[in-house]
Amino acid sequence: MTEKKPPSYASWTHGKLPLPELAEMKRRGQRIVMVTAYDAPGGRLADTAGVDVILVGDSAAMVVLGHDSTVPATVDELLVLTRAVTRGARRPLVVADMPFGSFQISDEDALANAIRFVKEAGADAVKLEGAGATLSRVRAIVDAGIPVMGHIGLTPQSATMLGGFKAQGRTAAKARQLVTDAQALERAGCFSLVLEAVPAPVAERITQLLTIPTIGIGAGAGTDGQVLVYHDLLGYQEGGPRFVKQYARLGPEIQAALERYAEDVRSGAFPEQQHTYGIPDEELDLFYAELEDRSPQHQ
Ligand code: KIV
Repeated sequence: MTEKKPPSYASWTHGKLPLPELAEMKRRGQRIVMVTAYDAPGGRLADTAGVDVILVGDSAAMVVLGHDSTVPATVDELLVLTRAVTRGARRPLVVADMPFGSFQISDEDALANAIRFVKEAGADAVKLEGAGATLSRVRAIVDAGIPVMGHIGLTPQSATMLGGFKAQGRTAAKARQLVTDAQALERAGCFSLVLEAVPAPVAERITQLLTIPTIGIGAGAGTDGQVLVYHDLLGYQEGGPRFVKQYARLGPEIQAALERYAEDVRSGAFPEQQHTYGIPDEELDLFYAELEDRSPQHQ
């Protein structure tokens, strides 16, 4: 049976989006849509919306688990979240972010953790931050048959070393280093590269120099695709980095709904008849009669 392409998808083949399709989309000039998600409903909604790639980001440490940085995220936590997303999302490629500490120690350790994301959580690919020592990790994981997405520019796991959460590649030398890193990651076997908080002209030049697609976040319009953090784009809270565009303001809506719920519970306005279960009259009479037999004056 041939299925018709749902209007929400840019490109369509039956089932899971084939990984090589991303490079084809770059070649055709079709922009790639990526978003983070951390649970099954988020994965399902992103899928229905026609998103191409879902990243189960270690940003979960901040937006879901309440930490101040992404550093505390653990493999076990991200495995649970990735498993939930892969249960909800069918069509998009699901990329699991390898958290800090899961790939820094050795190639063997990195590969063992990457395998867990694929085998235990159903991830299609993994993402690793940085270049330098990360290059040999990428080679080891790709050699084992697991697709790897790179991530350079602002790499939150090393924000302290970078001097905080700030834009990268803002001098000629640093921009050149980004180009060198991007090309090295492509040679190491990455199928795609996230460019975070990089000046737009630098990101655009990197994009032109690579055959693999670049996915920008705070990197301007010249990359092959864009990614935003789920909670940021849906407006769970005010503020955040300048590169965020809010497409909804769910934070205030959720809060108002919770306030109405609390009010209704306190006033007795909830639950109403329609929210409760009935019992046939004869069963209810029996129930009362049996209880009557058990009351102290009958004993
Ligand atoms: O963890 C994350 O959400 C990310 C994206 C911001 C690219 O790495």
